[in-house]
Amino acid sequence: MEEALDPGADEEAVDPYGGGSYYGHTEDVAFSFEGPFGRFDQFQLQRGLQVYTEVCAACHGLEFVPIRTLSDRNGPGLPENQVRAYAAELLPIFDPALGEERPRVPTDHFPSIEGAGMGPDLSVMAKARAGFHGPYGTGINQLVRGIGGPEYIYSLLTGYTGQEKEEAGTLYYGNTAFPGGWISMAPPLSDDRVTYEDGTPATVEQMSLDVAAFLMWTAEPKMMERKQVGLVSVLFLILLTVLLYLTNKRLWAPHKNKPKH
Ligand code: HEC
Repeated sequence: MEEALDPGADEEAVDPYGGGSYYGHTEDVAFSFEGPFGRFDQFQLQRGLQVYTEVCAACHGLEFVPIRTLSDRNGPGLPENQVRAYAAELLPIFDPALGEERPRVPTDHFPSIEGAGMGPDLSVMAKARAGFHGPYGTGINQLVRGIGGPEYIYSLLTGYTGQEKEEAGTLYYGNTAFPGGWISMAPPLSDDRVTYEDGTPATVEQMSLDVAAFLMWTAEPKMMERKQVGLVSVLFLILLTVLLYLTNKRLWAPHKNKPKH
């Protein structure tokens, strides 16, 4: 177990294909939504949405995310008129009934983005990637630190080394979080890349945390509800255990301490 808690354990993970260190380094982050009582920070989700919209949306779609969920109480919680205005500003959608493109409405999904130089869809990326693999690639420390999807995204965005190399006509950027160490995504963030409406300083660090939290929400929008149900179930099971224990004791009481024949 000591091994599992060692924050450096991942770096020792071995390449399953036999090429030395394979997994990148993932920084552990104490996100607000972690633990049984964790909750999404609504302002953070709103800032993350802003980063996604102004930066990442140029190359990454969110094709599985319905736009209307932006008004979810346990999500970004935007007022409905804002969601309608937001939808209308996204890329238009092809409507087969009309036979032409029309502006998006809240019941549509976010656009999907494809083409050369574009990145993968980010709808469920926070659940598709694991940040923690150790010790020795067994993944046991995920029990302690979580799977690490949002931590991986945060580490990816803050993990650029500044090095570049060209291979077969493609430019790769050194990145300590990306498996293999070289990614074809140019560093998307720089300080003050966006201007936060709530006045939060837009450092690379802050924007990375915010967009990672936002992408955790898109990947698991019902996380709050899941945790609540889990907590109530556990409390109920504890109560049931106590009641069954007392019942058992009561039922057997007349048969115990009987005089032996
Ligand atoms: C100029 C286009 C561009 C922009 C802007 C951009 N990306 Fe990417 N992104 C890419 C490309 C291309 C890849 C694929 C990289 C590869 O596999 O080498 C990628 C890959 C990724 C991955 C997947 C890494 C993996 O493990 O496979 C994540 C996560 C990601 N981007 C997040 C973001 C976030 C968050 C933003 C906004 C802050 C962003 N990207 C902005 C082009 C972009």
